[in-house]
Formats: sequence, structure tokens, C-alpha cells
Amino acid sequence: MPRVLITPHLLYELDLPCRRAIEEAGLEVVYPPNAMSLMDPTDLLKNLDGVAAVLAGMEPFNPEVLAKSNLRVIARAGVGYDAVDMAAASKQGVVVTITPGTNEISVAEQALSLLFGVMRGQPGRDQEVRSGVWKRVPLPRLSGKTIGLVGLGRIGRAMATRCQGIGLKVIASDPLADAAFAAKHDIRLVTLDELYAEADIVSLHTPATPETVRMINAKSLAKMKPGAVFINTARGSLVDETALADALRSRHLMAAGLDVFDVEPLPLDSPLLALDNVLLAPHMGGLDEESLEAMATMAGRSIAELYRGEWPGNGRVVNEELRAGWKW
Ligand SMILES: NC(=O)c1ccc[n+]([C@@H]2O[C@H](COP(=O)([O-])OP(=O)(O)OC[C@H]3O[C@@H](n4cnc5c(N)ncnc54)[C@H](O)[C@@H]3O)[C@@H](O)[C@H]2O)c1
Repeated sequence: MPRVLITPHLLYELDLPCRRAIEEAGLEVVYPPNAMSLMDPTDLLKNLDGVAAVLAGMEPFNPEVLAKSNLRVIARAGVGYDAVDMAAASKQGVVVTITPGTNEISVAEQALSLLFGVMRGQPGRDQEVRSGVWKRVPLPRLSGKTIGLVGLGRIGRAMATRCQGIGLKVIASDPLADAAFAAKHDIRLVTLDELYAEADIVSLHTPATPETVRMINAKSLAKMKPGAVFINTARGSLVDETALADALRSRHLMAAGLDVFDVEPLPLDSPLLALDNVLLAPHMGGLDEESLEAMATMAGRSIAELYRGEWPGNGRVVNEELRAGWKW
């Protein structure tokens, strides 16, 4: 019976419908031993022995891992697939699926919670109250400010309507923006440089691609307004963290709220940890209880469907080009 490895720790102990869907399709579910992290390619490869499909987190499916395994399917519980080398996956005939529509509300809520937190100076204030310091200094109001959304896809759109609900003006930069959505919601589409120049808050909602990696660097940070706030719930690789820390230390940026980092977990010698105008989270944007269940269920269903010879619909398959002639 073909084996399916479920890697995300959070799914080990939950009796989620994803497991049932996989088993009912006639596949065997296995987990890594001792809740082992598979973020190291060597460990990942060891655990892929005899495995035909992975219900995956953010593990690095690089060309070597793909070439040395016998995978047929990688079903990501999530929407970002930058951890999978797509050229190698397609070359090996490995179908890669994602879970669109399952986590955009969760990510938008995380971005907003970081935004509210830094606008009210919560990182420092929480520490002050705990240490007996009672300092009451007013900060600028959020309502009425302009937020620039870099990326107006599923998460960007969920952000846009929520931001408008709290009185923000929304502008966005996205080469493939849904113009009808933007027009309906009165969102001005701008170039990236216009966005940096006009936005009081810059919030990233793009995938990590060769074009977007390190798009936030010393040059782009200098284009942002003095006192701007930066929010990143997209990917750490989009940001030069040294340049970001410099911009925060000099107070060119007022503050940053960060859910994602270039290296995760964030190393304890990161310059970001020495700053009091940064609010940090452990890559939890897409992970509220509802989205966890929805992502796992959809990923499990995609594996079951592929095993039964059905092709997952609704934009779940990333490498659609494999469809003609693909067999488990
Ligand atoms: N923090 C988390 O836990 C978490 C959870 C889910 C997703 N994410 C990240 O958020 C990203 C976006 O997710 P989504 O569901 O909105 O994806 P999506 O595909 O619906 O939207 C992404 C949008 O970015 C746009 N884009 C691509 N390149 C761009 C560029 N150079 N400049 C501006 N826009 C560009 C695309 O045209 C698209 O509209 C994911 O790829 C993932 O990396 C993070």
C-alpha cells in the first residue's frame, strides 16, 4: 500500500479529516519518528524512503531530494510553494498542490494584529508596564493613514477590505491585479515606487519568486516615507534583514511587524531582536485553528483524488502542465 508522510507537527495528534480521506482512498499514513523536524534535506530524504506522497509543511524539496526519492505528489498545507523546486518537481513528474482559499483570513488577521500592535507601540509598552514603568506618550492614529499592499492576490484582497473597515486608504501594486476588484473597492493601483512614496504602511503579500526575493533592501527602504511602518506576513526571503534593522534603528521606519524571516526559527543573534520597535511572531500568519483544519483537509483530499485518478480542481495543482498523461 503506497505511503503518505504527513510532516507538519501540528497534524500529528489531531484526528483530522485529512487522515481519513487519505486512508479511505487506500493509502497508508506515516509520520516522521519522534516528531522529528524535516527542515534539513538529509533528514527529509531519509524519511522519504518508501513514501509516495507528502502532506507537506515548509520542507526543502530541492532537486537532490526530488531526484533521490520516488515521490508522486507533494501536497502543501498552505499556499506558498517556494520550498519546492518546481522545475525539478515537474521534471520528475511530481504533482505539487496547494490549498487556495483556506488561510487568507488568518494571514490578514495576523498582519492586522501586527499593524495594530506596532502602531500602539505595544512591543515596548508591554515591557515597560511589566517592569513598573508607567509612560503615557501618544502615538499617531492608524485610521486615515494610507496602506500600500504589495500583492493583491487572495491575502492582499482579504487585507484590503479589512483595512478599509478600519478607516485606512488602500493602494496596491501587483502586475496581475484584479482590476475589477480594485475598481469595486476603490483601490488605486500604483507602481512599486509610487507605493513606497505614498504609503504610511507597507505590507507584503507576494510570493517569493526570483523577482521578489530581497525586494525590500536599503534602496527600497530609502524610498519609503520617513516614519513608515513595515509589515511582512509573506516570506522572509523578500527582505534584506540587515538593511531593515538599519532602517528601524535609525528610526527612518517607525516600526515593523514581522511574521516571517529569512532563517526560521529566527536566530538569536539577529539584529532585529535588539530593537524595541519590532513586533515578532513565529510564522503563524496562516495558522489559526480554522485554517489549519481547512488546509490539512484540502491537502489530504488532493492526495486522495490523485490516487483515485481524479485531477484536483480550483487552482490546487501548481504544475498543471503534468495533467495530460500523468499517472500515480
Ligand atoms: N505568514 C504565513 O503564514 C503565510 C501564509 C500563507 C501565505 N503566505 C505567503 O503569502 C503569499 C501570498 O499568498 P496569496 O494566497 O495571496 O497568493 P496569491 O497567489 O493569491 O497572490 C499573490 C499575488 O502577488 C502578486 N505578485 C507576484 N509578484 C509580484 C510583484 N513582483 N509585485 C507585486 N505583486 C506581485 C501576484 O500577481 C498575485 O496577485 C504566499 O505566496 C506565501 O508566500 C504566508
